[in-house]
Amino acid sequence: MESALFKPLAMRGLTLQNRVVVAPMCMYSSQDGLANDWHLMHLGQFLVSGNGLVFTEATAVEPRGRISPQDLGLYDDATEEALKPVLAFKQRWGNSPLGIQLGHAGRKASVGVANGAAGAPLAAEQGGWRVVGPSPLAFDEGYPVPEALGPAALVAVRQAFVASAQRAGRLGFDVAEVHAAHGYLLHQFLSPISNRRSDAYGGSVENRIRFPLEVFEAVRKAFPADRPVGVRVSATDWVEGGLTVDDIVVFGHALRELGCDFIHVSSGANVPKARIPVGPGYQVEMAARVRAETGLVTIAVGLISDPLQAETIVKTGQADMVALARGMLYDPRWTWHAAAALGQEANYAIQYRRGHPKVVGIPVPGDVRSTR
Ligand SMILES: Cc1cc2nc3c(=O)[nH]c(=O)nc-3n(C[C@H](O)[C@H](O)[C@H](O)COP(=O)(O)O)c2cc1C
Repeated sequence: MESALFKPLAMRGLTLQNRVVVAPMCMYSSQDGLANDWHLMHLGQFLVSGNGLVFTEATAVEPRGRISPQDLGLYDDATEEALKPVLAFKQRWGNSPLGIQLGHAGRKASVGVANGAAGAPLAAEQGGWRVVGPSPLAFDEGYPVPEALGPAALVAVRQAFVASAQRAGRLGFDVAEVHAAHGYLLHQFLSPISNRRSDAYGGSVENRIRFPLEVFEAVRKAFPADRPVGVRVSATDWVEGGLTVDDIVVFGHALRELGCDFIHVSSGANVPKARIPVGPGYQVEMAARVRAETGLVTIAVGLISDPLQAETIVKTGQADMVALARGMLYDPRWTWHAAAALGQEANYAIQYRRGHPKVVGIPVPGDVRSTR
């Protein structure tokens, strides 16, 4: 059976071996923005598992853009140096390309971590810091009111993205993804709920997309020309009066004009009490619409966990790639198992080759090909 999921995909100078993407996942395991042995283990396991593309967690472009004090960053020589072992591991042992997600948390920065996830806002005496955003509107009750970014501050934030992208290129990241989803700074600009500016960056959709576009354009220029740069979006705020898929289609067209290589379609997280109809593949329809209307290479994400489900999404043209987050935490060899289930080959690290079902000679559980 020919598989769409295991068909290579070329983007600029990079050819992905398949369409499976390890989604960006905050690990909240850094100090002072520094990568450490956790990141080496966490990213390393995915880098040897035959994935189409592996993303780092949201990596802050400046210290105040970290969600929590435990976030990964890439904003100075020390944070650049700390990522080198991960890139050296990829170079020596990896069989999958590594992308970096560059982000800024804006008004959702400066929170604590509880049970491995972002928690409540930190007071100054707990190490909290002043947060920024498009408008002086807090994310929720109990969250700080951000300082609205003025013209000079916008240039500085854009420059922080540029500096991080340059560092990422120098480190050898294969792909860069600009994080404009999940209620973080660039999403805050895109959404009429968090952006109430009356200048050229607020109001109409053309104005709301302006700053994210400027950041994308600058990152694109700063990252090596033969390596892809894409954007992650929330395609809806899931509330009346919020960001809509229509807005994202307008954004997508403009991104395409600027040479965007892919769009990664998620949703939500800019409005705390939105009602989200969560279920298998619940965001795929939005990815399909963005792909159909913009022609951008599209990544679908969100409760995609079954190999046949993933195969169908790509085969039916709803998306070009699928990303998994929780499914990869549960089964870091998801791509090997999906390949086996679909009768395909994935890249095995040579050290692990003896675990391949064909070498071991055991039938593959869930193999949909035959009963042989
Ligand atoms: C532990 C964890 C950390 C996450 N951190 C990020 C992140 O850093 N950046 C991001 O864009 N999304 C982040 N997400 C969202 C995932 O990338 C993904 O979009 C979401 O979990 C839905 O996919 P899933 O159903 O396959 O988990 C995170 C999700 C999890 C479970």
